[in-house]
Amino acid sequence: MKLFVNIKEVHQVRNPEEILIKGKEMNILPSIEHAWMAVADGRIHSVGKMSELDEQAFASYERMDLEGRMVLPTWVDSHTHLVFAGWRNQEFEDRIQGMTYQEIAARGGGILNSARKLQEASEESLYTDAMDRLHKLISLGTGAIEIKSGYGLSVESELKMLRVIRRIKETAPIPVKATFLGAHAFPEAYKDNPDGYVDLIIEEMLPRIQEEGLADYIDAFCEEGYFNVDQTNRIMAAGASIGLRAKVHVNQFNSIGGVEACIDHNALSVDHLEVLTTVDLALLAESNTLPVALPSCSFFLSIPYTPVRDLIEAGLPVVLATDYNPGSTPSGNMNFIFSLACIKMEMTPAEAVNAMTVNGAAALELESEIGSITPGKRANFMVTEPISALSFLPYAFGEHHISDVYINGQLFTT
Ligand code: NIG
Ligand code: FE
Repeated sequence: MKLFVNIKEVHQVRNPEEILIKGKEMNILPSIEHAWMAVADGRIHSVGKMSELDEQAFASYERMDLEGRMVLPTWVDSHTHLVFAGWRNQEFEDRIQGMTYQEIAARGGGILNSARKLQEASEESLYTDAMDRLHKLISLGTGAIEIKSGYGLSVESELKMLRVIRRIKETAPIPVKATFLGAHAFPEAYKDNPDGYVDLIIEEMLPRIQEEGLADYIDAFCEEGYFNVDQTNRIMAAGASIGLRAKVHVNQFNSIGGVEACIDHNALSVDHLEVLTTVDLALLAESNTLPVALPSCSFFLSIPYTPVRDLIEAGLPVVLATDYNPGSTPSGNMNFIFSLACIKMEMTPAEAVNAMTVNGAAALELESEIGSITPGKRANFMVTEPISALSFLPYAFGEHHISDVYINGQLFTT
């Protein structure tokens, strides 16, 4: 049991019923200045103003003086491809020489390159590498994460990836959600029979995934040259029939009707949205599907940023995540997302924090567990360096300003 005192400001203090922050509300970040916060049994116990602290009530707590530092809930990263079998920096060099992401994919690189590497990797090495990455991310403030399969692209390799994710789930100190992304790209053998691969996903992969309880969500890369809307519809319907809600890669390069299809299937989220038509926007505004922007992917591929201002003006609850993967986003640092959101997408620091905490938790259906400083939620929070204002965090970009991360009330150390 710990009592943190002399906190300069505790940010994102919410009631349990505040689980999704939309539109204009995103610019409000409730906080308490000159605060204390008590933690017990791995959960947030209570929080309040120093001037109203009943010292007697916490006599048995370990007292921690935070000397003017700030406290925020940990980041929620609702979109990653954390399990992979090697980096793709050669493709990075090829892009510097002028090739595009799509051209690299067309010559058998990209996702297929990662799939070849993953096929050869052992479950043990995939697990160890992913856990190393995860521990780094936790020390950067990530306190809940989603991890996708999708570099397997065969029954055995997809199951291998999902088993690795399950092992991470069982051993990681933070909440982990698993998403099945068999429909990430068409493997070489199905180049001329794409619907045959969709059949394989539905008839062979999904029953095994259901049997072993390996996934929480289903995903597809709905894009020109990848999975078309009909195929994405089939995959979402098959997922729904075994209880997997959809979280879909859509509108990264083109708007082909994927947003509408996802809304029709009551998808939990639509992720990417770098290209967004007015029709897509209007449909989203009427739906319960959450828009997820992935600005470090835009940064790395030099493609447009998701028009988050339009989404916010339409009253939507924007979510921000990293998309950590070896091809389009070789970084899982949510602090960099914070900077990109403010610098490149004109989000205010308050909007960005809401998108990276409460709304991120909603995009993983973890809203009762994580995402805000709320009594009863997990004590996953971070302590900043001494800073003058919250805006210093995204402003002084390229490094982070978090001194300590607490997971389940314990100081996290690697
Ligand atoms: O979200 N767009 C599709 N999938 C990933 C990239 C995967 C890769 O290039 O390995 C993404 O950007
Ligand atoms: Fe992705």
